Amino acid sequence: MTLEWPRQIPTLTDGVVWLRPLEPPDVDAVYICASDLASQQFTTVPSPYDWSDAVEFVDRASAQVWPGFEVAITGDDDALLGTCGLRVRDEDSDVVAIGYMVSPLARGRGIATRATRLLIEFAWSVGAHRVALDAFATNLASRRVAENCGMAQEGILREAHLGNGGIRHDVVLYGLLRSDPVVPVDESPSDGGGVR
Ligand SMILES: CC(C)(COP(=O)(O)OP(=O)(O)OC[C@H]1O[C@@H](n2cnc3c(N)ncnc32)[C@H](O)[C@@H]1OP(=O)(O)O)[C@@H](O)C(=O)NCCC(=O)NCCS
Repeated sequence: MTLEWPRQIPTLTDGVVWLRPLEPPDVDAVYICASDLASQQFTTVPSPYDWSDAVEFVDRASAQVWPGFEVAITGDDDALLGTCGLRVRDEDSDVVAIGYMVSPLARGRGIATRATRLLIEFAWSVGAHRVALDAFATNLASRRVAENCGMAQEGILREAHLGNGGIRHDVVLYGLLRSDPVVPVDESPSDGGGVR
């Protein structure tokens, strides 16, 4: 076991997106993000998603760092574009897991990819050995984010999750090891053009 988990929620940036602790003024944007159809379909957020769910999420996330933390993803104007989180999945084995959600109007600009890369770098810096990401099989955008970050598809758990709306999802397991080769950053338009 080598994990040296932070005592405070970290602030991270690649110069285009910022990851910072959630704050009460983020509630509006969190509500928009989590009540969106795709977020309802592809994540485990409450459904229907109420205003009070966003208030509770921001309140809890602004204080919690163990066994994982959730942060705001912003551009340089500090407005919330999405949220992402890093969580200890198996402390004894130094395995952590990532999750993310981007506001409907901000999708397709490389934001989740940038945020995930920042979390992966952070995970290595605190001693993680493996980073995991689980995506529903039909969530092609999320699977693409994982692949763009160099994660390998390692398996499929058939009908492993009963999601919102009573739909059973196959869950695709992605993983990245600290020892895996570093994937060069693709400066394609959706990746390198910054947050617009
Ligand atoms: C998944 C999600 C976070 C992606 O956020 P994003 O900021 O738009 O992601 P990025 O722009 O970094 O990358 C999206 C990639 O998916 C691709 N993509 C988007 N929709 C797609 C689709 N329907 N089919 C195939 N690929 C798709 C984009 O082209 C891009 O790939 P590219 O860079 O190789 O062109 C966002 O769609 C979202 O919030 N969805 C709802 C919540 C969710 O699913 N969370 C993840 C749970 S595992």
